[in-house]
Amino acid sequence: MSKIVRLSILGAGTVGGGVLTLLRENADLLEAQTGKRFEVRHVLVRDPSKPRAVPVPPKLLTTDPQRAVCDPKVHVVLELMGGLEPARTLIRDALQAGKHVITANKWVMAVSGDELLRLARRQGVRLLYEASVAGSLPILNALQGALAGNRIERVVGIVNSTTNFILREMERALDAGEPAETAYATALRKAQENGYAEADPTSDVEGYDAQYKTAILARLALLQYVPLESVYREGITHISGRDLLWARRLGMGLKLLSISERLPDGRLCARVHPTLIPRECPLYVVRGAFSGIWLQGNGFQEMSLHGFGAGARATASAVLGDLIEIARYPKPPRHDDPSLRPGETAPIETLTTRYFVRLTAPDEDALRTVREPLSLLGAEFHPAEPLESGVEQVALTPPLNEGDFQAHLARLREHTSATVQAIRVL
Ligand SMILES: NC(=O)c1ccc[n+]([C@@H]2O[C@H](COP(=O)([O-])OP(=O)(O)OC[C@H]3O[C@@H](n4cnc5c(N)ncnc54)[C@H](OP(=O)(O)O)[C@@H]3O)[C@@H](O)[C@H]2O)c1
Repeated sequence: MSKIVRLSILGAGTVGGGVLTLLRENADLLEAQTGKRFEVRHVLVRDPSKPRAVPVPPKLLTTDPQRAVCDPKVHVVLELMGGLEPARTLIRDALQAGKHVITANKWVMAVSGDELLRLARRQGVRLLYEASVAGSLPILNALQGALAGNRIERVVGIVNSTTNFILREMERALDAGEPAETAYATALRKAQENGYAEADPTSDVEGYDAQYKTAILARLALLQYVPLESVYREGITHISGRDLLWARRLGMGLKLLSISERLPDGRLCARVHPTLIPRECPLYVVRGAFSGIWLQGNGFQEMSLHGFGAGARATASAVLGDLIEIARYPKPPRHDDPSLRPGETAPIETLTTRYFVRLTAPDEDALRTVREPLSLLGAEFHPAEPLESGVEQVALTPPLNEGDFQAHLARLREHTSATVQAIRVL
């Protein structure tokens, strides 16, 4: 690679703007770290006339993707536009044209990462994607570099900072005296007002964003290809303020967790769901719009990372790390990528876990129809408490098989007027 590394940046939104800012602010540092200078040749956008938080010199702006991707002078294409298409096609085109690619796109990497990583190797170029999981936290590079000599047993993460912000704001709303029933709507509105959640929040609150990231994390941590559809997904839309109040009373926190682990039978289990975590868990302190990762491995034992999981500068930090890596080591490794090996995955039904159960019913008789069968499974109930609309009672169960427990709950729900909330406990 020559002394000048020429870049095409696809997208000048939050992340693209952050990258342009840090490229300018840290130009001397980047040169000192690599012995090279970085020059932006094209910035691809949809609307060149749009006012931008980070102004882009008009001569760099283009709406022609092929110009940005196939310019023979460009060495590295940075895909920071988001969405599945046309981002995936443009990454493919860039690799085919012999460019190195950096992407922040978890959707593309979760769905087509295997195909694109193989293509990059065949082309003798690099495809790096640190920014696609947990923003500034250098977890993907750590798994492939400094921690690669360990057998990773489990990765637990708060990988969607929007839902972490919403859960925290729900707590704040409850502390301010808001009724539990409306806390979620208030918190979501606040997340949207602060720019943490989109107008359509589905990808965050239904767990899709965390599912994409989990597929990527699980693959690199447990060295096995993880199809997206094998990652169990559950979001936070069914979480009530009452669950958060009870979590606190039980000395626990409630988080949307990404969990990937190797089960005793050797299969990989990857999942995203709301989870109660004890105070001693390193992720307990990860609050608001932050991300955190907690790892266990047979050498380092355990480790946690905690920091900004999103935002212009934090995400740009990860992109620049990838850029420096490419400038230093432009050749891809020659051996087969171990994270693309096929392997068996286990459905969530095979899991053994404890549950927090919260029952609400119009009266004590209705409550009893559910409490008694759950007590037979070993659930230990706190005394029932009156609510404005009836009664509520919570319990923690011993470890139970997920498939059996969910089937049991489904049968109970058919024959009762009580509602049953069940949340897994870490
Ligand atoms: N935002 C974060 O904190 C964050 C954190 C980690 C990872 N990421 C990932 O980073 C990527 C970018 O996110 P972002 O938040 O920066 O998005 P964004 O603010 O919506 O910016 C997207 C940019 O891409 C351009 N663009 C989109 N589709 C295009 C198309 N078809 N043709 C040409 N230009 C197109 C847009 O052009 P116009 O400006 O003209 O509309 C805009 O400049 C996504 O994959 C996201 O998941 C984001």
